Amino acid sequence: MVGQNSNNPFFSFFFTFPKFSPINANQVRWLIDVGENEMFHLVLLGVLSLLLYKLANKFLNSGNYFLPANAPPGSSGFPLIGETLQFMAAINSGEGFYNFVRARHLRYGNCFRTNIFGETHVFVSSAESAKAILNNESGNFTKKYIKSIAKLVGDQSLLCASSHHHKLLRNHLLPLFSTTSVSLFVQQFDELIMTSIENWGKKGSVIVLDQALQITFKAMCKTLMSLEDSKQLEILQEDVACVCDAMLSFPLQLPWTRFSKGLKARKRIMNTLEKMIIERRRFQEDNNDDFLQKLLTDQNGSSSVQASRLSDQEIKDNILTMIIAGQDTSASAITWMVKYLGENQNVLDELRTEQFHLAEKLSLNQCLTLEDLNEMSYASKVVKESLRKASIVAWLPRLALQDTEIEGFKILNGWNINTDARSIHLDPMLRCDPDKFNPSRFDDDQKPYSFLAFGMGARACLGMNMAKAMMLIFLHRLVTTYEWKVTDSDPSIVKWALFSRLKSGCPIDVTPIRKDS
Ligand code: HEM
Repeated sequence: MVGQNSNNPFFSFFFTFPKFSPINANQVRWLIDVGENEMFHLVLLGVLSLLLYKLANKFLNSGNYFLPANAPPGSSGFPLIGETLQFMAAINSGEGFYNFVRARHLRYGNCFRTNIFGETHVFVSSAESAKAILNNESGNFTKKYIKSIAKLVGDQSLLCASSHHHKLLRNHLLPLFSTTSVSLFVQQFDELIMTSIENWGKKGSVIVLDQALQITFKAMCKTLMSLEDSKQLEILQEDVACVCDAMLSFPLQLPWTRFSKGLKARKRIMNTLEKMIIERRRFQEDNNDDFLQKLLTDQNGSSSVQASRLSDQEIKDNILTMIIAGQDTSASAITWMVKYLGENQNVLDELRTEQFHLAEKLSLNQCLTLEDLNEMSYASKVVKESLRKASIVAWLPRLALQDTEIEGFKILNGWNINTDARSIHLDPMLRCDPDKFNPSRFDDDQKPYSFLAFGMGARACLGMNMAKAMMLIFLHRLVTTYEWKVTDSDPSIVKWALFSRLKSGCPIDVTPIRKDS
């Protein structure tokens, strides 16, 4: 499966240590191999010393040893390393990294503090605080990703840019997601889906996540840079998966680390994008209706935006950012949606009725339009409910730029403050029966800042309309073409994945629906 965790024994052993779990046969074999290699021991010792030195430095410089009187409740963990081992153990478990947050949310409530990688992290899970942090009217917060992510997507990426730079980049990127762009995208995505799911019936069974990753990757590459060559797509997809795999890894740049492999893959992607840009300039190719071309010519910006055209590095970093932000998230969301529908026959029945009604109006092989999607009122609620339940992006990371107060607790300048979207989505005080998959709950207005699947405010998801379109089109084609049965209901999620992804990938058996029935 694309992007699945590679079982690096060093990491497995190191990070399962805090749970005192018995080591398995693979790990014993690994330890024996390592025992024969003294050089490896020396390197390992060096690496650990370096890590401790770095953490100690960070810890002493960050003022984390000093806590204000009314700091949020929580634990600072062990000296220097804080609760890093427990966090890594959660990432490496089948229940996923969010378990680390869930356990502390249950213990301490809506606002708690922990220490990971030598830094203080505060997690907040009330709609009111989400509003204050994400709206950021006070200018107290900025976005912050962990170091490994920033290095992999590039420091010119929208995801990592400081407030001022972010505003400039977003002004350039926003016009790419216009209604005209989304309309074109709808048609292209529908064509892709129709050809992709056509042969599922012959196969009899498919893994939804694998299929969805292929389809969303192709869709993003076509929209971003008109890339359709299957060999080039395959190479690029492998490199992007390698970058994604490295995102939650320890930012340790040694030849065998996941992080180092991710950086190498990033370099190859940058080279590919560089070549594309050179070719487009050399051949003055402006007949490509894609994001890359628009950024190169920057026809979309206002005159003030045009005056500050994006540099090549900004373009490359942000094309990579959009591939990552768009592919993995959408594919994971589609997969969870199929799983939830498979478990809720009554919802599926209602959805089918709506979608067949729409299908009757379309002629054979006619592509869906944005107007058709606007008619899918029940399907839109299915999409929202799936996003709420799955919380693909579990928390939204920010950095406090000055001392401030949240939920009555003191937050110090330099602390990380994360809005815990998943806890808000599952809060029984905000919606009744939150564990139930019930799309009709969206008939009623939701409390402001209680639905954060795409974030809110100046950093809200740029591609949300594209993402919703992908999910709706996928739904329409799936429910009007096949009956299906989920054959593995295991809810475990992929280890080391940045976004919440089903480990089983959601395998389904499909049977074509007889159109004359
Ligand atoms: C179901 C699919 C998707 C989900 C759940 C999702 C979720 C999110 C969330 C929660 C954020 C905000 C993070 C924050 O505030 O810290 C975000 C940002 C972003 N998303 Fe998406 N996203 C999805 C699909 C897409 C697609 C298809 C694109 C298209 C390229 C995209 C591009 C972006 C970009 C560029 C940002 C950064 C915005 C900024 O910092 O100004 N996303 N996404």
